Amino acid sequence: MDLSDIGNDLESVLLSEQQLNDRLAEMAAQIDEDYKGQDLLLVGVLKGAVMVMADLARRLHHPAEMDWMAVSSYGSGTKSSGVVRILKDLDADLTGRNVLIVEDIVDSGLTLSWLLSNLRSRGPKSVEIAAMLRKPEAVKVDLDVRYVGFDIPNQFVVGYGLDYAEKYRNLPFVGTLAPHVYES
Ligand code: XMP
Ligand code: MG
Repeated sequence: MDLSDIGNDLESVLLSEQQLNDRLAEMAAQIDEDYKGQDLLLVGVLKGAVMVMADLARRLHHPAEMDWMAVSSYGSGTKSSGVVRILKDLDADLTGRNVLIVEDIVDSGLTLSWLLSNLRSRGPKSVEIAAMLRKPEAVKVDLDVRYVGFDIPNQFVVGYGLDYAEKYRNLPFVGTLAPHVYES
């Protein structure tokens, strides 16, 4: 699948399926090494992290558990405000667990900062973050993202779980939107 298959809404491919796959294999190997012989609970943040979670988890040799959370950050369409509401909470009890939050993208970092302190208040042994993409803004906040797939430019991206008005999540690559899509 490439750009021409989806009409003229996408401007460019930022990260190809191959690039994503290669990086996921490296991240999985690192996570396997870091959590070897220890408990591990992967926490995916719906909906954006579905692709990363599925692809990262299946590359792990670790018998990790998976759980899901859905949150909504209030704010205008493309910017988050840091005020977060839980739409679906975890099923798992985090007491004494090694938790690894799996996210699609860190932008301002506000959503993850909130999530981190929320999960830390539940008595886990550890909480770390794995994010497939990180934007430049995220570097400014004090947020320790242990596993980062790619640092990307400050552009609105879609695909591989990321949406524009709920579309394009199913693209197997990460692309940038053509300006006419969000300017219209
Ligand atoms: P913060 O700013 O709290 O935002 O780190 C994280 C959430 O904002 C969304 N987000 C994006 N979604 N393309 C998207 O489709 C982007 O370029 C983008 N930047 C931020 C996303 O939901 C993420 O979890
Ligand atoms: Mg998200």
